[in-house]
Amino acid sequence: MISYQLKNRESYNQNYINSTENPEVFWAEIAKDNFVWKRPWDRVLDWDFSKPKISWFEGAKLNITENCIDRHLKTQGDKTAILFEPNDPKEPSEAITYKDLHKRVNAFANVLLSKGIQKGDRVCIYLPMIPELAISVLACARIGAIHSVVFAGFSATALSTRINDSDCKMLITSDGGYRGAKTIDLKSIVDTALLECDGIETVLVAKRIHSDIPMVSGRDFWLQPLLDTASDQCEPTVMDAEDPLFILYTSGSTGTPKGMVHTTAGYMVYTAYTFKNVFQYESDDVYWCTADIGWITGHSYIVYGPLLNGATTVMFEGVPSYPDYGRFWSIIEKHKVTQFYTAPTAIRALAKEGLGVVDPYDLSSLKILGTVGEPINEEAWHWYNDHIGKRKCPIVDTWWQTETGGIMISPIPNSFEGKPTFATLPFVGIQPTLMDEKGEEMDGNSVEGRLCIKFPWPSMARTIWGNHQRYKETYFSAYDNLYFTGDGALRDENGHYRITGRVDDVIIVSGHNLGTAPIEDAINEHPMVAESAIVGYPHDIKGSALYGFVTLKNEANSNEALKAEINQYISKQIGPIAKLDKIQFTSGLPKTRSGKIMRRILRKIAIKDTSNLGDISTLLNPEVVETIMKNSL
Ligand code: PRX
Repeated sequence: MISYQLKNRESYNQNYINSTENPEVFWAEIAKDNFVWKRPWDRVLDWDFSKPKISWFEGAKLNITENCIDRHLKTQGDKTAILFEPNDPKEPSEAITYKDLHKRVNAFANVLLSKGIQKGDRVCIYLPMIPELAISVLACARIGAIHSVVFAGFSATALSTRINDSDCKMLITSDGGYRGAKTIDLKSIVDTALLECDGIETVLVAKRIHSDIPMVSGRDFWLQPLLDTASDQCEPTVMDAEDPLFILYTSGSTGTPKGMVHTTAGYMVYTAYTFKNVFQYESDDVYWCTADIGWITGHSYIVYGPLLNGATTVMFEGVPSYPDYGRFWSIIEKHKVTQFYTAPTAIRALAKEGLGVVDPYDLSSLKILGTVGEPINEEAWHWYNDHIGKRKCPIVDTWWQTETGGIMISPIPNSFEGKPTFATLPFVGIQPTLMDEKGEEMDGNSVEGRLCIKFPWPSMARTIWGNHQRYKETYFSAYDNLYFTGDGALRDENGHYRITGRVDDVIIVSGHNLGTAPIEDAINEHPMVAESAIVGYPHDIKGSALYGFVTLKNEANSNEALKAEINQYISKQIGPIAKLDKIQFTSGLPKTRSGKIMRRILRKIAIKDTSNLGDISTLLNPEVVETIMKNSL
C-alpha cells in the first residue's frame, strides 16, 4: 500500500518513482484510501495536451465538503477547524470547531438555495478575511455552485469585469472590512460595480463594521437574519469528479484576467496530499497561512488542503504591521502556531523592522516555515531561518501557480532539505522539464531554461472560463505536448530547481501577479496620455516594483499631480496593488519599425544597466533612448 505520508527521503524517492512510472495506479491508491466517495471512478486519467483535455477520476461522484467537514465529525467534531484571529488584537479570537463549521456551512448553503442558487450557478464572493469568507466558499461547494472569489482589494471595475466574465448570479459581500487602522467600505465598491452587472440577482451582505449602508430593496439582503432562520442541515449535493469547483481569476500578460477553472476530485486529492506532506501536518498542529482567501494560496492552503486533513487552520483578518510589526509573531505565540506559511515580501518588510519586534515573542512552537509567491532572496531566507525558525525549522520554498492548483516544487521536511533560493525538487507526481530557446528539451544538470511540465497532475486547471482556445494558446502552444508555466528556472548540479522569474510580461509585485497590458490600458485611459509602457525593477521589499514610461499628448502637462492622477486611474481600474512606484514622462517610447515598443530597452533603463543596450540603430526612433536614459529615475 502506498503511504499517504512521506516520512523520509526513501519514501519520497519510492513514491516519486511510483507516481511517474505508474501515475494512474499511484493516484488511484492515494484517492481510494484517503477520501470518501459516493461512487468510484471508471477511469483514473484521460489526457491529451494538444486539445488540451485533462480529466481525472472520471465517473466518480463525491462532495468535497463531505471530505472537508462531515467525515471528521465523529472522530474530531470538537476540534477547532478554523481559528479566526481578528484585525484588532483586543477583539477575542474565535475557534470554530468542525461541528460548528458543519452547521454554519449547512445554514449558509440553505440560504443560497433559498435564493435560487443551483448546482453549476456562479456565485461571486467579495469579502474581507472574516469567517463568512471560508464558510461561503464551502457553502457553494456544498450545493455544487461554482465560487468565484474576488480579492477584496480589487476595484469596482475589476470586480464587475470578473462578475460579468463568469456570469455570476449572486454576490456575497460585507458592509465593510478592517485592514490595520483602515476601514474599507466594501459595499459602496460593490454598488458601483453592480451598475455594470445585469446578471446579479441577489447580494448577501455580512455585517462586519456595522456601518450604515444603503441596501437595494429586492436585491440586497443582510446575511445574518437569513442564517438565523435557515436549517443547519443540508445534504451535500453529489458532484461529478470533473464538475467545476471554482473559478479564480489571474492576470495574463495581455487581455482580460483569465478565469482559471478548477474541478472537484483532482483538486481535492492533490491539495490534500500536498498539504499533508509539504507541511508534515500532525493532528495537534496549529497551521497558519497568512495569504488572503482571494488568492489561490488561500483557497488551497487555508481552506481546502487543511480542512481535508482535519487540521486547525488560522485565518487572520489583519495586516502584519498592525497594531505594530510584532503582530505575526504575537499570533504565533498566542496560538502556538506550528507551521507558518507566508510570502517573501512580508518577510522582507518584517526583517526591516529589526529584531526588537521579534525577540519579545516565544516562537518555540514553530516546526516548519513556508514561503510562496515569488523567489525568496538569500538574505530574506537566512533572516527567516535564523530569527523566526531559530535554525531548527525546515523552510519550504513552495513554487506553484493559480493554474497548478497545488504546490509543484518544494522541499519536503524529513525527506530532503531546502537550500536558500531553491524550490528544490518536484513534488510526487510532478514531472518538470526545462526547454531551451530553440524549443529543445534540456537534458542533464547545471542548465537554465523555461520551465514546463510534461505530464498532467490531478489539480491542474482544466480550462479558462468561456475561452478554451485561450487556455490552449497560453499554456499548451509554446511547446508540443507540454504545459508551459511562464517561468524560467535553472537546475543545479544536483537536479534541484531554482525559479528565476517570469519570462513573459507578468510582473510579480509583493507576491501579486500583475500583467503589464491591463495596467497600460488603465493609464492610457487618462485623456492626457498618448501611450505608456510598464516594466518591473528590483525592489527591496516588494521583490519587484513597477516603473511606468508615459508619453503625454502634450508634454507641457507633465507634473507631479498628473503622476498621482495616473496612479488613481490604475487604482480605479485594477486596485491599489497595481500602482506605479516610478513614473517617467517621455517624449516617445523606443519602437521597432513595425511599431512594437522595445520593452527590453526600457527594462534595462529601469534597472540602470545601460552599458549594453544592444543594437538600437534599427529602431524607428533611436534618438528617444538617449533622452529616456538621461531623465531616468
Ligand atoms: O512566477 C511564479 C511565482 O508566482 C507565479 C504564480 O503566481 P500566482 O498564480 O499568483 O500564484 C501564487 C501563489 C501560488 C509563478 O508563475 N512564484 C510562486 N511561487 C514561487 C514563485 N516564484 C519563485 N519561487 C516561488 N516559491
